[in-house]
Amino acid sequence: MQDFSDRVAVITGAAGGIGLALARQALARGMRLVLSDVDAAALDAAGRSLGADPARLLTHAADVSRDAEVAALADAAFARFGAVHLLCNNAGVGFSRLAVEHSAADWEWVIGVNLFAVAHGIRHFLPRMQAAGARAHVLNTASAAGLVSTPGLAAYNASKQGVVALSETLRAELAAQRSPIGVSVLCPAWVPTAIHASSRARPERFGATAPASEASRPYEQGMEHAVLAGRLSADDIARTAFEAVAREQFYILPHSRIGQAVQERFAEIAAAAVPTAPSRAPSP
Ligand SMILES: NC(=O)c1ccc[n+]([C@@H]2O[C@H](COP(=O)([O-])OP(=O)(O)OC[C@H]3O[C@@H](n4cnc5c(N)ncnc54)[C@H](O)[C@@H]3O)[C@@H](O)[C@H]2O)c1
Repeated sequence: MQDFSDRVAVITGAAGGIGLALARQALARGMRLVLSDVDAAALDAAGRSLGADPARLLTHAADVSRDAEVAALADAAFARFGAVHLLCNNAGVGFSRLAVEHSAADWEWVIGVNLFAVAHGIRHFLPRMQAAGARAHVLNTASAAGLVSTPGLAAYNASKQGVVALSETLRAELAAQRSPIGVSVLCPAWVPTAIHASSRARPERFGATAPASEASRPYEQGMEHAVLAGRLSADDIARTAFEAVAREQFYILPHSRIGQAVQERFAEIAAAAVPTAPSRAPSP
């Protein structure tokens, strides 16, 4: 998808971090915007911060882990602009502690927001994008955690590896249909955003996040430290993502060292060796 001007972008998790940076990139390329987030107040503030023409911007609050709310988001987007050309399934939450200390609700929250939401987005947007017959693109935000498994991130790793698998499957199916809809999967390592404080947006039905145990605390603190020390900004990631979408590039790995970690992991898998790559990986 090379021509962004006047096209319509839908971005979830757009109230801050990488989602808001994607919105800035889309706006700079002349796109009309549908921005969504579970945090309605932060979403309104984010929308205002862009200084966009109100006629070219729709903000619509939604909890993307809920199928019906993604359906309502799609209805609102098509009702307002009549088309969607770039679907950014970006909303996500971070959660770090020992695997054995993830509760059932923790799993449901992380998998719901990070993986099911991408499936909901594809189900509710793609048929209408396909029916339009125009060039369009799906950009799924996974993570380097979708490619290597760092300790302390069991549900996060599983959710993001699911997003990579879903994206690869969708790309292959659309390519087999000679569809004009492209797919990309964005796999950044650590980026300084508010992802280490994701519990702020944890929907009530999942209950409150329990405090980390003494054994889990180093992982939680390690995630916060790594996020805040991230060397590429959210704007860097969003710019790289748009350049890659324009090239129809599928895997987007903005941090150059992740490719090495992936090579090591797959060499170990192919050799049926003991996995060591996660501990050597520079980040999730
Ligand atoms: N920051 C990093 O280090 C990093 C690295 C790799 C991948 N990612 C991914 O990038 C994406 C964006 O994260 P970020 O770093 O900008 O974090 P962030 O916390 O700054 O932004 C995430 C946004 O998602 C929203 N959100 C959370 N739960 C939601 C829900 N149920 N429904 C709708 N919106 C919801 C939040 O309110 C927030 O505005 C996520 O998918 C994340 O997993 C982040």
